[in-house]
Amino acid sequence: MALADFLADLDQFAADAKSAFDEASTLDAIEAARVEFLGAKAGRLKSIQKGMGKVDKEDKPTAGQKLNAVKGLVEAALNAAHEKLSSGAAEAEREAFDITLPGIAPQREVYRLGKMHPIYQTINRMKEIMGRLGFTAVEGPEIEDDWHNFEALNIPLSHPARDPLDNFYLSTAKLSADDKEAEVVRTPALGPDGKPLLLRSQTSTVQIRTMEQTKPPVRIISLGRVYRPDTADATHYPMFHQIEGLCVDVGVTMADLKGVLQMFWQAYFGEELDIRFRPSFFPFTEPSVECDIWHDGKWMEIGGAGMVDPNVLRSVGYDPEEVTGFAFGLGIERICMRQHGITDIRDLYTNDVRFLAQF
Ligand code: PHE
Repeated sequence: MALADFLADLDQFAADAKSAFDEASTLDAIEAARVEFLGAKAGRLKSIQKGMGKVDKEDKPTAGQKLNAVKGLVEAALNAAHEKLSSGAAEAEREAFDITLPGIAPQREVYRLGKMHPIYQTINRMKEIMGRLGFTAVEGPEIEDDWHNFEALNIPLSHPARDPLDNFYLSTAKLSADDKEAEVVRTPALGPDGKPLLLRSQTSTVQIRTMEQTKPPVRIISLGRVYRPDTADATHYPMFHQIEGLCVDVGVTMADLKGVLQMFWQAYFGEELDIRFRPSFFPFTEPSVECDIWHDGKWMEIGGAGMVDPNVLRSVGYDPEEVTGFAFGLGIERICMRQHGITDIRDLYTNDVRFLAQF
């Protein structure tokens, strides 16, 4: 067989195969073309290959090279046809998606999606708003010593706030040696200063810890758990959360306090609202106030505040002639409950998922 004839056959084969693959627009058509042209048993390429045997010996290398080249081309056409089909299919699918269809809401009962506890939702919101007002969130320990919970806060030894009935003082418990009639012996747990340790009863402790570590200006908030031995009822719980704010700088006044609190509560409730101060007393602020906001058609009591007492500033080494400051503190549960219409604080700590999942 003359080389020219063999090459002409190959060219014809290449042209036919290429146009077949180009036109094939379904998976079946591509497959049919593959069998016709490249099929291992009876494909056209196979029979051309058989013709190689009849090509003159000296022409065989040329014929073989051409055969391989054509085979490569046709296989590429086959792949291209597959690619065209799958990208076209994806496009058709994309077009078919109707974005106006209502979505399928994940069903909590079915998927058991996790949720942030309502108290922490409130905490994060408060943090975020106070952050925008330039206050950094700091933390302090829940086990406190006498100095940070009382002394530095201008609460003298004789003050009723130190009453064991109003605080969780810590003790160490040991079984007495005689194991027949074992008896628990409790001794007060003392701090390094030899004074009793307790679970902090207020986040004001963090004011002291922060000022001891930094020079003014100070602008911080502290959010966390506090403990008081109240019997649990609808409005009391022996553990609850407070937010504490502290701002100390040159020339800080009561007007700054009122302005910050008003901005905070307006941002929190998303509406303009009035704020008022009533005279009050706290050992660590002078003057001291109770703060109310006008919300939902009535005055709502939100917490204590005041100008940091000069004695407190002195106890952390600040000069009250140089800097002044304001502080405020309030219970987070009450705000959270008010906001969500929760009427029993115990519901927040019973850990009933059916209750918590509502918020
Ligand atoms: N620590 C006070 C309380 O627990 C609240 C408070 C904080 C008052 C800061 C004034 C200034 O009730």
